[in-house]
Amino acid sequence: MDDADTTPVVPDRREWWKEAVVYQIYPRSFNDSDGDGIGDIPGVVEKVDYLDDLGVDCVWLTPVYESPQVDNGYDVSDYRAIDPTYGSMDDWERLLEELHARDIRLIMDLVVNHTSDQHVWFRRSRQGEAEYDDYYIWREAEEGYPNNWEAHFGGPTWTYDEERGEYYLHLFTPEQPDLNWENPRVREEIYDIVSWWLERGIDGFRLDVINLISKAEGLPDGDPDREGLTGSEHFVNGPRMHEYFAELAREGYGDRAGDIVAVGECAHIDPETALDVTGRESDALDMTIFFEHMELDRDDRWDEREWALTDLKAIMARWQDAVAEGAWVPLYHTSHDQPRGLSRFGDPEYRYESATMLATWLHGHRGTPFVYQGEEIGMSNVDFETPASLRDVWARNYWESERDAGAEYADVRADIERFSRDNARTPMQWDGGDHAGFTDGEPWIPVGEDYETVNVAADRESERSVFEYYRELIALRESDDVLVYGDFDLLVPDHEEIYAIHRTLAEADHDLLILCNFGDGTPTFEAPESLDTDDATVVLANREDPAADPAAVELRPYEAAIYRLF
Ligand code: NOJ
Repeated sequence: MDDADTTPVVPDRREWWKEAVVYQIYPRSFNDSDGDGIGDIPGVVEKVDYLDDLGVDCVWLTPVYESPQVDNGYDVSDYRAIDPTYGSMDDWERLLEELHARDIRLIMDLVVNHTSDQHVWFRRSRQGEAEYDDYYIWREAEEGYPNNWEAHFGGPTWTYDEERGEYYLHLFTPEQPDLNWENPRVREEIYDIVSWWLERGIDGFRLDVINLISKAEGLPDGDPDREGLTGSEHFVNGPRMHEYFAELAREGYGDRAGDIVAVGECAHIDPETALDVTGRESDALDMTIFFEHMELDRDDRWDEREWALTDLKAIMARWQDAVAEGAWVPLYHTSHDQPRGLSRFGDPEYRYESATMLATWLHGHRGTPFVYQGEEIGMSNVDFETPASLRDVWARNYWESERDAGAEYADVRADIERFSRDNARTPMQWDGGDHAGFTDGEPWIPVGEDYETVNVAADRESERSVFEYYRELIALRESDDVLVYGDFDLLVPDHEEIYAIHRTLAEADHDLLILCNFGDGTPTFEAPESLDTDDATVVLANREDPAADPAAVELRPYEAAIYRLF
């Protein structure tokens, strides 16, 4: 059923969150103030001036709520409390104040597809307390599981609960039972939580796997021959999703709906659906995090696949088409769920050049750039020498299932080092001292082995500072609407090494040309005849003496440049 209001959004309407650059903080790994080896909120407070120097407009803080930390906070046991590992509610309030004092907004993660199995609702539900009886999705099964759905981190989506004598559904780990959104009381509880945080003065949410909240009626078996997780056709973009989104905006956001931002993490989403879920005035999402470019280099979660720049272009261009029609997207190449983009799409051997090239490339699209901590100094993937160095539940599950099937760690090590989420979760490298200046204690996860050379202090002193380049790029976005609102046109789509973008905005007196060399070769960019490069000026470049006229230019390894064309 979908009888929600379908009034379309106005695609080119100005919004603060379109103009913003968001900085993602994974607090566990950002900065530890108390020496317990785990980053915390006072540690973030210590670094607000750093964020201000970088020039970002908004911080997305991944979950700091009370949690047993099975999935590092994406298993919430109390939505209205700060986990003591991260500090107190007073610390959190101080953080909000300090950010706001610098005109930096704050968005919080909202994890409401599931809770922790330690949440009081689940504890009561598993005891069969009448009021909480169907807060979760419980089923009996005569034989085997209630259906054949597969969980995201491996295994079935069902776990048998001895106490209640039934199976419960969990799309992630067994410790993350899915809430039953069909139950209006559950939805009310969620909307109350949303309003409660908004009343505290935050500026929006990043909504975790929010397109999984509506499951197909009857929870039918999935088609095992379909690509992707078995059952996903019954739990992705489900039948009541729009209804819930509209209700969430109405009941949860209330009169803040117009001024906050809602960033929906939408699993398994394509551009058409993204347009559908952000393109309506009544709906609760302003933009959708998408993953297609993050799947480019792998066949399933752990198997590497060769990728070509032309594939990346095709994916991004399709998403840019959806943006042109009224969708909006975060532009990112790294997150707490992905390996480091620099290792994936660039080359740590060319750290400065490829980190800055990738930044230029991303910021060159239409959407909101999301900078993940450490990206702005060129942090890259790390070594995981032994299984003992793995922390992420997904990587550990993968290793354990391979081990049980007879594999040695050496057989899977390369896959894990390439794709593990732990790559982006190693401590932020602040300086070349002990534990990279992240903690005085023993870090919860090993520090990247290159911290003595790759760290904030060294980078900021360097003549070739990645941080400084990001700062200039962010400042450029603030001063140039073409970068924010301009139409996107992909040039030389078939070129295997050069990614070139032309941005135009009717009311501006100039266009932008963005050139990126995605490799260590020296290809030549030939501007299409339609492009008038006569009066071109370079506004930003990662190499000295970039060509003055980009009509025909040989690019150096990982060279990137932005030109204004008049
Ligand atoms: C997406 C989050 O980003 C990820 O870290 C988490 O494991 C899953 N959702 C489950 O909440």
